Amino acid sequence: MNQPLRHLLQIEGLQPPQIAAMLDLAESYVLLNRSGKTQRDLLRGRTMISLFFEDSTRTRTSFELAGKRLGADVINMSVSTSSVNKGETLLDTAATLNAMNCDLLVVRHDQSGAPALLAQKVDAAVINAGDGTHEHPTQGLLDALTIRRRRGRLEGLVVAICGDVLHSRVARSNIHLLTAMGSRVRVIAPPTLIPPEVERLGVEVFHDMKAGLQGADIVMALRLQKERMARGLVPSAREFFRFYGLDAAKLAWAKPDALVMHPGPMNRGVEIDSAVADDPVRSLIREQVEMGVAVRMAVLDLLARRTHRND
Ligand code: ASP
Ligand code: CP
Repeated sequence: MNQPLRHLLQIEGLQPPQIAAMLDLAESYVLLNRSGKTQRDLLRGRTMISLFFEDSTRTRTSFELAGKRLGADVINMSVSTSSVNKGETLLDTAATLNAMNCDLLVVRHDQSGAPALLAQKVDAAVINAGDGTHEHPTQGLLDALTIRRRRGRLEGLVVAICGDVLHSRVARSNIHLLTAMGSRVRVIAPPTLIPPEVERLGVEVFHDMKAGLQGADIVMALRLQKERMARGLVPSAREFFRFYGLDAAKLAWAKPDALVMHPGPMNRGVEIDSAVADDPVRSLIREQVEMGVAVRMAVLDLLARRTHRND
């Protein structure tokens, strides 16, 4: 690795060797998890607090599991019942947790940049668990690990990311990571759901599924993030499904052995059809969740090395 990481705030800016080293470490945790062994000494005496200002199933649970498997003291702070409701600010909340000698702070927030702001104010290592439409770095890493395990490489693969790219922090982390590692990334969506100047990130833009899916090795479907849409950017869910929903007929336009991914949560019948999502051969969706635990163990392990109290 080049420079040891102090926080994990985004994929953008990470160097390919850093990314590869994280994936290699995560790979070792996949094997450890599958063997049923644990490493409960690694983070013994360390405290991990997770602070989620937005809903989550996978990310929150897998960070908790990852912290516990490595032996950390894990606290999941419930924001909805915290003093945030009495008007305490994000920074004061973080300072309070910091004063309890928290080593690792896992933060999800609806404002892009919130974890980066916290990182300037606290001693703990901050991990971005998704901030607004900015990034979701551990999702990018777990997606890359899933692809690399199945295809043996990232370089040269054609990855098509379909759906609400505009609001997707998952898309952004994946674009940064996959282009850095030599994949060819395409985004496919109606013009209203494509971020302005996204081509500058090194991706190809398509508005038509048939054209965009041709030759794709990996097809990633994204949820319509209604919670981030100020106005209706798609006419209706039914119409969106007709043109952009990933079903067997559209998947047939990709390579014959193309694999299907989705970060979750899925809206079946909107961006993805159940027959594709549940296809035991083509769908990697469950595997993505398994990889999420291993990736988060690797990230906690790496960052905890930097926050050792005697450093
Ligand atoms: N769970 C992912 C995120 O929080 C994707 C989504 O919610 O659609 O970004
Ligand atoms: N993929 C993802 O971040 O899922 P959650 O929102 O359930 O954590």
